[in-house]
Parts: sequence; structure tokens; C-alpha cells
Amino acid sequence: MKITKFLGLSFILFAFAATSFPEAVHAKDAAAVLDVFGNEVQAGARYIIVAPSNDNTTTLAVTATSKIICNSDVILSTLNESLPITFSPAIKSNDGVIREGSYLNVNFDAPSCRMGGVTTMWMIESEGLIVTTGGVDRLNRFKITKYEGDNSFYQLSFCPMSEPFCDCSCVPVGVNSDKHLSPNVGPLLVMFEPDAY
Ligand SMILES: *[C@@H]1O[C@H](CO)[C@@H](O)[C@H](O)[C@H]1NC(C)=O
Ligand SMILES: *[C@@H]1O[C@H](CO)[C@@H](O)[C@H](O)[C@H]1NC(C)=O
Repeated sequence: MKITKFLGLSFILFAFAATSFPEAVHAKDAAAVLDVFGNEVQAGARYIIVAPSNDNTTTLAVTATSKIICNSDVILSTLNESLPITFSPAIKSNDGVIREGSYLNVNFDAPSCRMGGVTTMWMIESEGLIVTTGGVDRLNRFKITKYEGDNSFYQLSFCPMSEPFCDCSCVPVGVNSDKHLSPNVGPLLVMFEPDAY
């Protein structure tokens, strides 16, 4: 009798939860991306993308070749040269939490020069070898996933829009010998540090 009651109650609670919070239930599909303090990474908030140097002795950070964005390239530099970014989900979510594996646009939070059409959004041109700015909404999707070699790090991947003629899959973003962020080189290990300013 007790068991039946318990099951009945659980069922009602479950039904209530499922109908009242469908997005909350759905949101459990993927883990939230966490910042260096273990807090959920939020859409629209400013972060510095930090990465260990090759010998793991210093912390490097992602920035642009020019701090006023003018079709600048995205590079890895010293921490004091960092430029904050914001993430915006390609498909808007209700809770504003950035989740592992979801499609994102990445924008520098920085002024841009007044040339027509210049945006602060990261992009990779088709056949492009480096990450640049000047992206257009929806077409320049990235995603964040756990770095498989070490669970405390994440990696970024570029996910081209699939075209009828393109069997596109996401490619990890690394750093080339020129310090430019680049697809098709070993993934860069990154973490997300809330921007203090
Ligand atoms: C640096 O740290 C990463 C992640 O923990 C590790 O995979 C790599 O082997 C380390 N490199 C060196 C040179 O210690
Ligand atoms: C950052 O530090 C480097 C030396 O480590 C220095 O050359 C550079 O001018 C500094 N940049 C800024 C913006 O302070």
C-alpha cells in the first residue's frame, strides 16, 4: 500500500515537472560549460579565453591582431594582451547557459572600425586557414566541448554550415606556428575566465 502511494506520488510529481518545465528537462541534454571558478558560462557575458603555454609554465590568452576590430585575425598572445569575447547560442536558449556541443557565435567585445560590414564575430572563410573577424550571424558557428585528453580543459571547434555539396563536420581549432587560431591543427586547450572589467 505504501509503495503504491509512493509510486502514485512520484508519478504525479514527475508529470508535473515534465509539463511545467519542459525546457528545464530538455536542458539536461548537455552539460553546461563551466568557467574557471566552476560557474556556468552565460550567453552575452564577457570572458577571456585562456590557454596554457606549450610548456605549461604561463597562461596565454586569445586576442585580436588589432584591438579595434577591422577584419582582424584571432591570435593567442600573452595574458596582458587579452581581449574579451561573448558567446551567443545559434539557437536561443531560455536559460542563457552555454552548453557543451551547442552551436555558438563568438564575438570580441571590442570596438570595430567604421568600414562597412565589419563585425567583431569570429569566422573562418571557406577553405580558410585561420580564424578572422567579420563573421555573419548563423554562418559562423563554433562549439565548445570537453578536451578529451584532460577533463579540466575545453576545446573550441568550428562547425561549417552544411551545404548540399558539403559533408561538413566540426573541426577542432588550434594554434598554428604563427600564433593564429587555425582549424586542422591539434586542438588548443582552453578555459574561460570571467572578464573583471
Ligand atoms: C601540459 O598540460 C597538458 C594538459 O594537462 C598535457 O596534456 C601536456 O602534456 C602538458 N605539456 C607539458 C609539456 O607538460
Ligand atoms: C604585455 O607584456 C609584454 C611583455 O611580457 C609587453 O611587451 C607588452 O607591451 C605588454 N602589453 C600590454 C598591453 O601591456
